[in-house]
Amino acid sequence: MSLPDTLTISPSVLYFGTPVALVGTADSHANANISPVSSLWALGETIVLGLGTTGCALENIHKTEECTINLPSADLWPKIEAIARTTGSSPVPPKKAAIGYIHHPDKFALGGFTPVSSETVPAPRIAECPLQLECRLSALHGDKVRGFVLVDLEVTRVHAHRDIVVEGTRHIDTSRGHPLFFVFREYFGDARPLGRNFRVGR
Ligand SMILES: Cc1cc2nc3c(=O)[nH]c(=O)nc-3n(C[C@H](O)[C@H](O)[C@H](O)COP(=O)(O)O)c2cc1C
Repeated sequence: MSLPDTLTISPSVLYFGTPVALVGTADSHANANISPVSSLWALGETIVLGLGTTGCALENIHKTEECTINLPSADLWPKIEAIARTTGSSPVPPKKAAIGYIHHPDKFALGGFTPVSSETVPAPRIAECPLQLECRLSALHGDKVRGFVLVDLEVTRVHAHRDIVVEGTRHIDTSRGHPLFFVFREYFGDARPLGRNFRVGR
Protein backbone atom coordinates (compact mmCIF):
# COMPACT_ATOMS: atom_id res chain seq x y z
CA MET A 1 0.00 0.00 0.00
CA SER A 2 1.39 3.45 -0.90
CA LEU A 3 1.71 6.07 1.83
CA PRO A 4 -0.49 9.23 1.68
CA ASP A 5 1.02 12.13 -0.28
CA THR A 6 1.71 15.30 1.78
CA LEU A 7 1.93 19.04 1.13
CA THR A 8 3.98 21.57 3.10
CA ILE A 9 1.51 24.27 4.16
CA SER A 10 1.37 27.37 6.39
CA PRO A 11 -2.09 27.23 8.01
CA SER A 12 -3.39 30.50 9.48
CA VAL A 13 -4.35 28.66 12.70
CA LEU A 14 -3.08 25.45 14.28
CA TYR A 15 -6.17 24.71 16.34
CA PHE A 16 -6.09 21.02 15.44
CA GLY A 17 -8.86 20.18 17.90
CA THR A 18 -9.12 20.57 21.66
CA PRO A 19 -12.08 20.70 24.06
CA VAL A 20 -13.84 24.00 24.67
CA ALA A 21 -13.89 25.28 28.25
CA LEU A 22 -15.46 28.36 29.78
CA VAL A 23 -13.26 30.09 32.33
CA GLY A 24 -15.29 31.72 35.10
CA THR A 25 -13.56 34.58 36.88
CA ALA A 26 -14.47 37.45 39.18
CA ASP A 27 -12.69 40.77 39.54
CA SER A 28 -11.90 42.40 42.88
CA HIS A 29 -15.47 43.86 42.95
CA ALA A 30 -16.99 40.38 42.41
CA ASN A 31 -18.05 41.21 38.83
CA ALA A 32 -18.26 37.83 37.11
CA ASN A 33 -16.87 37.12 33.64
CA ILE A 34 -16.84 34.17 31.22
CA SER A 35 -13.97 33.55 28.79
CA PRO A 36 -14.19 30.77 26.17
CA VAL A 37 -10.89 28.89 25.72
CA SER A 38 -9.71 25.78 23.93
CA SER A 39 -5.98 25.78 24.69
CA LEU A 40 -5.97 23.57 27.77
CA TRP A 41 -4.96 20.17 29.08
CA ALA A 42 -5.37 18.19 32.30
CA LEU A 43 -3.00 15.84 34.14
CA GLY A 44 -3.82 14.57 37.63
CA GLU A 45 -5.21 17.52 39.58
CA THR A 46 -3.47 20.04 37.32
CA ILE A 47 -5.01 22.02 34.48
CA VAL A 48 -2.90 24.21 32.21
CA LEU A 49 -4.49 26.96 30.12
CA GLY A 50 -3.00 29.10 27.36
CA LEU A 51 -4.39 32.59 27.90
CA GLY A 52 -3.89 35.74 25.85
CA THR A 53 -2.14 38.49 27.81
CA THR A 54 -4.70 41.15 26.86
CA GLY A 55 -7.77 39.22 28.08
CA CYS A 56 -9.93 39.96 31.10
CA ALA A 57 -9.59 36.32 32.26
CA LEU A 58 -5.86 36.62 32.81
CA GLU A 59 -6.23 40.01 34.48
CA ASN A 60 -8.76 38.58 36.94
CA ILE A 61 -6.79 35.36 37.61
CA HIS A 62 -3.65 37.43 38.17
CA LYS A 63 -5.46 39.44 40.86
CA THR A 64 -7.57 36.78 42.56
CA GLU A 65 -5.41 33.66 41.96
CA GLU A 66 -8.44 31.47 41.27
CA CYS A 67 -11.08 30.67 38.66
CA THR A 68 -13.48 27.97 37.54
CA ILE A 69 -13.14 25.78 34.45
CA ASN A 70 -16.52 24.76 33.06
CA LEU A 71 -16.75 22.05 30.38
CA PRO A 72 -19.77 22.63 28.14
CA SER A 73 -21.76 19.99 26.27
CA ALA A 74 -21.84 20.27 22.49
CA ASP A 75 -25.39 21.69 22.39
CA LEU A 76 -24.20 24.83 24.22
CA TRP A 77 -22.11 26.03 21.29
CA PRO A 78 -24.57 28.77 20.12
CA LYS A 79 -24.48 30.34 23.59
CA ILE A 80 -20.69 30.29 23.48
CA GLU A 81 -20.61 31.85 20.03
CA ALA A 82 -23.03 34.52 21.32
CA ILE A 83 -20.32 35.75 23.72
CA ALA A 84 -17.34 34.94 21.47
CA ARG A 85 -16.86 38.44 20.07
CA THR A 86 -16.80 40.08 23.50
CA THR A 87 -14.30 40.85 26.23
CA GLY A 88 -14.81 41.80 29.84
CA SER A 89 -11.97 44.31 29.43
CA SER A 90 -12.76 47.98 29.00
CA PRO A 91 -11.43 49.67 27.00
CA VAL A 92 -11.11 46.87 24.43
CA PRO A 93 -7.40 46.26 23.69
CA PRO A 94 -6.61 47.87 20.27
CA LYS A 95 -5.62 44.59 18.56
CA LYS A 96 -8.96 43.03 19.58
CA ALA A 97 -10.97 46.13 18.64
CA ALA A 98 -9.36 45.98 15.17
CA ILE A 99 -10.84 42.49 14.57
CA GLY A 100 -14.31 43.38 15.84
CA TYR A 101 -14.30 42.55 19.57
CA ILE A 102 -16.55 44.67 21.77
CA HIS A 103 -16.73 45.07 25.56
CA HIS A 104 -19.62 43.41 27.39
CA PRO A 105 -19.93 43.75 31.17
CA ASP A 106 -22.19 40.72 31.70
CA LYS A 107 -21.46 37.69 29.52
CA PHE A 108 -23.64 35.49 31.76
CA ALA A 109 -26.67 37.54 30.67
CA LEU A 110 -25.50 37.88 27.06
CA GLY A 111 -25.03 34.13 26.57
CA GLY A 112 -27.94 33.04 28.77
CA PHE A 113 -25.65 31.34 31.29
CA THR A 114 -26.49 30.95 35.00
CA PRO A 115 -23.85 31.71 37.66
CA VAL A 116 -23.64 29.33 40.65
CA SER A 117 -21.57 30.00 43.77
CA SER A 118 -18.43 27.92 44.12
CA GLU A 119 -17.45 26.21 47.37
CA THR A 120 -13.68 26.75 47.51
CA VAL A 121 -13.13 29.87 45.37
CA PRO A 122 -14.99 33.17 44.84
CA ALA A 123 -15.29 32.76 41.03
CA PRO A 124 -18.70 31.48 39.92
CA ARG A 125 -19.37 28.17 38.19
CA ILE A 126 -21.67 27.89 35.15
CA ALA A 127 -24.81 25.87 35.91
CA GLU A 128 -25.44 24.76 32.30
CA CYS A 129 -22.00 23.05 31.98
CA PRO A 130 -22.02 19.33 32.90
CA LEU A 131 -18.53 19.50 34.47
CA GLN A 132 -17.48 22.41 36.67
CA LEU A 133 -14.01 22.58 38.23
CA GLU A 134 -12.98 25.00 40.96
CA CYS A 135 -9.30 25.95 40.64
CA ARG A 136 -6.55 27.85 42.40
CA LEU A 137 -3.59 29.40 40.61
CA SER A 138 -0.34 27.44 41.09
CA ALA A 139 1.92 29.39 38.71
CA LEU A 140 2.06 31.56 35.61
CA HIS A 141 4.63 30.65 32.94
CA GLY A 142 5.79 32.53 29.87
CA ASP A 143 6.17 36.09 28.81
CA LYS A 144 4.23 38.85 27.14
CA VAL A 145 6.38 38.69 23.98
CA ARG A 146 4.47 35.73 22.58
CA GLY A 147 1.15 37.32 23.56
CA PHE A 148 0.05 34.50 25.83
CA VAL A 149 0.98 32.84 29.11
CA LEU A 150 0.52 29.33 30.50
CA VAL A 151 -1.75 29.34 33.53
CA ASP A 152 -1.00 26.42 35.84
CA LEU A 153 -4.03 25.60 38.02
CA GLU A 154 -4.74 23.14 40.84
CA VAL A 155 -8.26 21.71 40.85
CA THR A 156 -9.79 22.14 44.31
CA ARG A 157 -13.29 20.75 43.70
CA VAL A 158 -15.14 18.94 40.91
CA HIS A 159 -18.89 19.18 40.32
CA ALA A 160 -20.71 17.07 37.73
CA HIS A 161 -24.32 17.03 36.59
CA ARG A 162 -25.92 14.01 38.26
CA ASP A 163 -26.99 12.54 34.90
CA ILE A 164 -23.41 12.14 33.64
CA VAL A 165 -22.20 10.27 36.75
CA VAL A 166 -22.48 6.46 36.81
CA GLU A 167 -24.92 5.88 39.68
CA GLY A 168 -23.23 5.05 42.98
CA THR A 169 -19.71 5.75 41.63
CA ARG A 170 -17.37 8.71 41.06
CA HIS A 171 -17.01 7.91 37.36
CA ILE A 172 -18.25 9.93 34.40
CA ASP A 173 -20.64 8.04 32.11
CA THR A 174 -19.02 8.79 28.76
CA SER A 175 -22.12 7.58 26.90
CA ARG A 176 -24.04 10.53 28.39
CA GLY A 177 -21.43 13.28 28.15
CA HIS A 178 -21.24 15.16 24.83
CA PRO A 179 -18.07 17.27 24.88
CA LEU A 180 -17.59 20.26 22.60
CA PHE A 181 -14.40 20.62 20.53
CA PHE A 182 -12.89 23.57 18.68
CA VAL A 183 -11.25 22.38 15.45
CA PHE A 184 -9.64 25.00 13.18
CA ARG A 185 -12.17 27.53 14.59
CA GLU A 186 -15.22 25.30 13.95
CA TYR A 187 -17.30 23.76 16.71
CA PHE A 188 -17.50 19.95 16.69
CA GLY A 189 -19.64 17.62 18.80
CA ASP A 190 -21.07 14.10 18.71
CA ALA A 191 -17.81 12.34 19.59
CA ARG A 192 -18.61 8.62 19.49
CA PRO A 193 -16.88 6.02 21.65
CA LEU A 194 -14.46 3.75 19.74
CA GLY A 195 -12.97 1.58 22.48
CA ARG A 196 -11.72 1.57 26.05
CA ASN A 197 -8.20 2.12 27.40
CA PHE A 198 -6.86 -0.77 29.56
CA ARG A 199 -6.98 1.47 32.68
CA VAL A 200 -10.76 2.05 32.66
CA GLY A 201 -12.09 0.97 36.07
CA ARG A 202 -8.62 0.42 37.63
C1 LIG B 1 -14.09 28.42 21.17
C2 LIG B 1 -13.09 29.48 21.54
C3 LIG B 1 -11.84 29.12 22.01
C4 LIG B 1 -10.90 30.09 22.40
N1 LIG B 1 -9.70 29.69 22.93
C5 LIG B 1 -8.90 30.60 23.51
C6 LIG B 1 -7.76 30.20 24.24
O1 LIG B 1 -7.47 29.01 24.38
N2 LIG B 1 -7.00 31.16 24.84
C7 LIG B 1 -7.31 32.49 24.75
O2 LIG B 1 -6.61 33.33 25.34
N3 LIG B 1 -8.40 32.91 24.05
C8 LIG B 1 -9.20 32.00 23.45
N4 LIG B 1 -10.32 32.41 22.77
C9 LIG B 1 -10.57 33.85 22.61
C10 LIG B 1 -11.14 34.47 23.90
O3 LIG B 1 -12.36 33.83 24.26
C11 LIG B 1 -11.36 35.96 23.65
O4 LIG B 1 -10.09 36.59 23.62
C12 LIG B 1 -12.26 36.64 24.67
O5 LIG B 1 -12.36 38.01 24.36
C13 LIG B 1 -11.73 36.48 26.10
O6 LIG B 1 -12.61 37.14 26.96
P1 LIG B 1 -12.09 38.05 28.16
O7 LIG B 1 -11.22 39.15 27.55
O8 LIG B 1 -13.34 38.61 28.77
O9 LIG B 1 -11.30 37.15 29.05
C14 LIG B 1 -11.23 31.47 22.31
C15 LIG B 1 -12.49 31.83 21.81
C16 LIG B 1 -13.41 30.85 21.43
C17 LIG B 1 -14.77 31.29 20.93
